[in-house]
Amino acid sequence: MHSSVSIPGYDYGTARVRRSPVTLDELRQIEQAAGFSEEDQHALQCAGEVLVEQAEQMVDSWRARIAAQPELARWFFDPSGKPDEAYKAAVKKRFVQWVRDTCMRPRDQAWLDYQEEIGLRHTPAKKNQTDSVHTPPVVPLRYLIAFVAVVNPIRPFLCREKRSAEEIEEMQNAWSKAVLIQISLWSRPYVKEGLW
Ligand code: HEM
Repeated sequence: MHSSVSIPGYDYGTARVRRSPVTLDELRQIEQAAGFSEEDQHALQCAGEVLVEQAEQMVDSWRARIAAQPELARWFFDPSGKPDEAYKAAVKKRFVQWVRDTCMRPRDQAWLDYQEEIGLRHTPAKKNQTDSVHTPPVVPLRYLIAFVAVVNPIRPFLCREKRSAEEIEEMQNAWSKAVLIQISLWSRPYVKEGLW
């Protein structure tokens, strides 16, 4: 895996990340609800071998969508109303790493804990803190969910390598489930106590 130690603010597996209030048992239940299987885990790893090289392009393509829609772009604006370029650049590195993590990391306690952290970093509890910036304090949950439609299709990136249509289908399905499981976890800090 690409070295991650040098990414500022990327705290995966460190003591700076608090323990997730979600248990590993609950995680397994969510995986089961999404139909995420051993085969999906394998397909995701195979996808990772292709996607790791393209992770930056993937993030660039998603970022272009955010930049093109003012209602999305503004969550990266500084108090003067302009994009905070240093913030965008810092978050981008961690987002690229996320593509790798989604495919390659085992779904263990450290993984679960960082899911909670990523969720929190989209909410007033932690947004802006990692990079000491002054952009709006929340990414509204409605956009987090809707944006799955943008992050979901990975076929264009998978098709750049020689793979059978069936293999590509399996990788796409595994990726879709993996993203949805994460959004489910990230939604937790947004939701009223007892309703998640
Ligand atoms: C499927 C949807 C989304 C995914 C998979 C995603 C993924 C991520 C990841 C991996 C990070 C970095 C986490 C880290 O610090 O290690 C991040 C941070 C961030 N994302 Fe998202 N994101 C999504 C939707 C959105 C949307 C719709 C917006 C707003 C337009 C957004 C704005 C941000 C911002 C502003 C940060 C930095 C938060 C901070 O201050 O630490 N995200 N996102």
